[in-house]
Formats: sequence, structure tokens, C-alpha cells
Amino acid sequence: MTTLFDFSTFPILTTDRLILRQLTRADADAICAIFSSPEVLRFLNNDPVDTPEKAVSMIDWLAQNYHNHTGIDWGITVRGGDNRVIGMCGLYDWDRENRHIDLGYHLLPAEWGKGYATEASHALITWGFASLDVHRIQADCTAGNDASERVMIKCGFTFEGIRREHFWEHGRFVDNKYYGLLRHEYATLGS
Ligand SMILES: CC(C)(COP(=O)(O)OP(=O)(O)OC[C@H]1O[C@@H](n2cnc3c(N)ncnc32)[C@H](O)[C@@H]1OP(=O)(O)O)[C@@H](O)C(=O)NCCC(=O)NCCS
Repeated sequence: MTTLFDFSTFPILTTDRLILRQLTRADADAICAIFSSPEVLRFLNNDPVDTPEKAVSMIDWLAQNYHNHTGIDWGITVRGGDNRVIGMCGLYDWDRENRHIDLGYHLLPAEWGKGYATEASHALITWGFASLDVHRIQADCTAGNDASERVMIKCGFTFEGIRREHFWEHGRFVDNKYYGLLRHEYATLGS
């Protein structure tokens, strides 16, 4: 029986190379750097977070999601480093009735290709299945976001389908690809 996470203490997660910690308003510049980068926004339909004020609003909104028990977002920092946030990852849109939650990740381009998103995602998936009463963890990306898709595949997710022309992104409709990992599949991963 899973002991439900009660949101009383923020769960700091540690991996071989990373510490995933709560974001604070002091991380506004880092959030700005990530979410104003054209490379990061390439496959997202988000407006750029290009001022410290917008970054503070975003951090406050994420804190509100935590407060409302609908999602948990972590700042990604490098172990043994200066505590600077180099990316974000999260479990969000927790649907308690249907027992699923979404996984997401975003990193500064300078940190891409080091396996950090996969490492952080593994930690979130392990924590999520251990701490939340979820039956599935799901993720999705715009078709063409091959790095994101690769992260899902490396984490053991199964491709579930495409919604055609589902999002309006950068002036055109784009297809969206869906992936999922079921609790019993997670339990047999690596065996
Ligand atoms: C998606 C993202 C978080 C991946 O971060 P990362 O730390 O570089 O990911 P990892 O290093 O763990 O894994 C990336 C994998 O994709 C592969 N990859 C990267 N770019 C690729 C491309 N253009 N085509 C195919 N594969 C690619 C890498 O080779 C690696 O796979 P491998 O380990 O088998 O070689 C990062 O690219 C990012 O922040 N993108 C912008 C935000 C975003 O789109 N987030 C996802 C929203 S759905």
C-alpha cells in the first residue's frame, strides 16, 4: 500500500549528479534564462518568460500548484555546484480520480546532451510511484521534439499515439505525441 505524500515537506530528490529542490523567488533569473531561450521554446506554445517579474509570477504559480496539491515542480541543480538552477522538472496535473500524473522537463541549452533530463526524470518516476497513488505517469511532446521523446523512451515509456494538429505553435498547427508508463510496467523495468 502506497503511503500518500501529504505535501507537508517539499521532497528534495538526490541523484548521482543532481539535486532536485524547491524553486524560490531567488531563482527568477535562472527561470528567465531557461524560459526566454528560443531553443527551449522551439517546441512549446508558451509565451517567453523574459523579465524577472514574469519569472516571479511563474515561480509563484508553481508554488500555488504545490499548495493546491495538484503538482510538484523541482529546480534542477548540479551536485557539488553553486545551487544554481539549470533546469526544471515536474509532476503536474495530478488526476486523483483516474490516478495519473504528467511528467515534464526543461533545461538550459548549455546543459543539454549530458543525460540530466533522463536522470532527473528517473528520480521523479521512482519518487512518483513510491509516494503518490498513481497508476500511470504520462508525458507528451510536439512531433519533432526528438530529444524529449528520447528521454521518455529511455525512461521506459510506451508510445501511445498522436493527436494530429493538436496545438497552435509558432504560427502553425503541430501534431502532439503521447507516451505513458504504467505502474506494473515500471515495476518490471530493468528485470
Ligand atoms: C528535452 C530536454 C529536456 C532533454 O534534455 P537533455 O538533458 O539533453 O536530455 P538527455 O541528455 O537526458 O537525453 C536526450 C536524448 O535525446 C537525444 N537527442 C538530443 N537531440 C536530439 C535530436 N535532435 N534528435 C534525436 N535525438 C536527440 C540525445 O542524444 C539523448 O539520447 P541518447 O542518450 O540516446 O544519446 C532538452 O532538450 C530541453 O530542455 N528541451 C527544451 C524544452 C523541451 O522541449 N522540453 C520538453 C517539453 S515536452
